[in-house]
Amino acid sequence: MVDNVTKSSSKILGVGSYLPSEVVDNLKLSEKVDTSDEWITSRTGIKARRIANEKEATSDLAVKAAQNALIDAGLTAQDIDLIIVATITPDMAFPSTACLIQHKLGIPKVASFDIEAACSGFLYALDVADGMLSSNRYKCVLVVGAEKLSSIMDWEDRTTCVLFGDGAGAAILSNAGSGSQLIGFKSGADGSNPNLLYQPAGGSLLPASQDSLSSRGHFLKMNGREIFKSAVRVMERASRELLEAHGFTENDVDHVIPHQANARIVESLSQRLEIPLGKFFCNLDKYGNTSAASIPIALDEARKSLILKKGQLGLFVAFGAGLTWSAVLVRF
Ligand code: UT7
Repeated sequence: MVDNVTKSSSKILGVGSYLPSEVVDNLKLSEKVDTSDEWITSRTGIKARRIANEKEATSDLAVKAAQNALIDAGLTAQDIDLIIVATITPDMAFPSTACLIQHKLGIPKVASFDIEAACSGFLYALDVADGMLSSNRYKCVLVVGAEKLSSIMDWEDRTTCVLFGDGAGAAILSNAGSGSQLIGFKSGADGSNPNLLYQPAGGSLLPASQDSLSSRGHFLKMNGREIFKSAVRVMERASRELLEAHGFTENDVDHVIPHQANARIVESLSQRLEIPLGKFFCNLDKYGNTSAASIPIALDEARKSLILKKGQLGLFVAFGAGLTWSAVLVRF
């Protein structure tokens, strides 16, 4: 069914990423948390993660990823006229991380804002950027997914702190020029159960207080099992709906770049979609779950590994806190 589907005209002109230099492998982590390399590897596929240093904030990681994306696109920061940043670990509650990045890139006046859709954030941002470009009011959009998740980890909670890492990825989008053609988007959310994955304190509901600190409310909390089940279900549904809406089948997909949360989630998705696991790009063993940064980092690595051939069909698919989900189709 191809009727009533708005076709995108935007292209990804360049991609870049940045990972902090400190590598924390499972063995190192097991020296400070009650866990083991065997448990983390067998339950998640993660072997290591990158951790930013005290002086590096999310915007610093983002700027480096953005600069790499600009080089890849053959453009300069002055070509950008809109910045959209997806993050759940902004440098501060406000102003937006996008504004801080705008200043660090030296491009005053450029419209800049953050969006928050957790691990689906980068795909949501692509969806929004595509809409802004199709309005013809903007010509060149910098889209960033960046996280310093180590800043909200409870290093005494082994059920979460082993899973996440820091990093940033960026893409330059435009209607003009040559690059990977965005085809379509399917984003959605179910806000009925926010406590499955959340940071309880620090917002207007539970502002910072002695109580919020002593109850460890400023750290990420998660019901891993429930998130696992929902993740597979919503990613399968969004992928199928998007493919069908654009007249494709699962067999047409050459590469899937999924959110990098857990190798078992990727395996389940591969089985349910009946797309061979070999078509899924995974680098979560090296970086863990970097939330909004995971797909652009994976895209950048997949591209550099030269597996993405011109004309092939790519499917990006993510899920995250909210619960949010998003799927994006692209012709490389
Ligand atoms: O971007 C979205 C972010 N969230 C996710 O992607 C999370 C999705 N969920 C998952 O990836 C998995 O549910 C987890 C990896 C979080 C957990 O795996 P699981 O197979 O669902 O394990 P579980 O929660 O059922 O726990 C099994 C056992 C428990 O012990 P008991 O109660 O069976 O004795 C846990 O206490 O494993 C224990 N455990 C650990 N043991 C060693 C939990 N975390 C650890 C750990 N090291 N790090």
